[in-house]
Amino acid sequence: MKVIAIDGPAASGKSSVSSQLAKRIGFAYVNSGFMYRAVTWEILRQGARTDSEESVIAALARADISCGIGPDQVSFLRINNEIPDAALKDSEVNRHVSQVSAVPGVRNLISSSLRALAEVGPLVMEGRDIGTAVFPETPFKFYLDASPEIRQQRREAEGGADQIAARDQMDSSRKAAPLKIAADAHVVDTSLLTIDGVVDAILVSLRPRGIVPK
Ligand code: CDP
Ligand code: CDP
Repeated sequence: MKVIAIDGPAASGKSSVSSQLAKRIGFAYVNSGFMYRAVTWEILRQGARTDSEESVIAALARADISCGIGPDQVSFLRINNEIPDAALKDSEVNRHVSQVSAVPGVRNLISSSLRALAEVGPLVMEGRDIGTAVFPETPFKFYLDASPEIRQQRREAEGGADQIAARDQMDSSRKAAPLKIAADAHVVDTSLLTIDGVVDAILVSLRPRGIVPK
């Protein structure tokens, strides 16, 4: 099993950095946040409540969910034969995703699907709990951060409504696998770095450890 775990709060640069890093080293790229977003999208589509654990679990039981790695070396998730890519970043999903992600039954389901993906081949996986809870045994852990102001500016520049401070607060304070820095993670402050600059910093840390070509 070869997994590079990239965790951090919203707009710290996880997706941009992880997808670039994966391309550069020939690993598959997995965005675990998309899985939480897809489940949230499905629960909203069913018209179920996101603030009740029972209702979330019941909605999940009615959905047929599967995931895998596509030929482009990027993970995908299918719900009832649909791939809900475009809708995943919409503001309704942003507003409800942290509530849904706090439900232990949702986390168990997604975490076991994520672990299964690592059997297919080497991965760069981004999320909130990849280094702390999904693959605590991987020695390759990074935690990306940036100041709250810069992260808010980055999200605003992308358009769309996203209360990232509220999501960060819920993600860090939940009981089940909260967002936190793993004791053995390498922390990278991305506030003043370009995406390539962050990827380079990660590669500098990985190369001497033999997991990526020199
Ligand atoms: O891209 P951004 O950082 O804004 O969000 P994301 O990675 O797409 O994750 C969306 C939400 O899913 C987060 O706010 C968390 O509530 C949840 N999530 C999680 O709980 N655990 C993960 N490993 C990944 C995401
Ligand atoms: O996945 P996460 O929410 O952590 O962040 P992202 O979606 O990769 O990045 C959020 C936005 O910040 C994107 O528009 C990136 O292009 C931008 N970004 C940046 O300007 N500088 C960085 N070092 C990292 C990301």
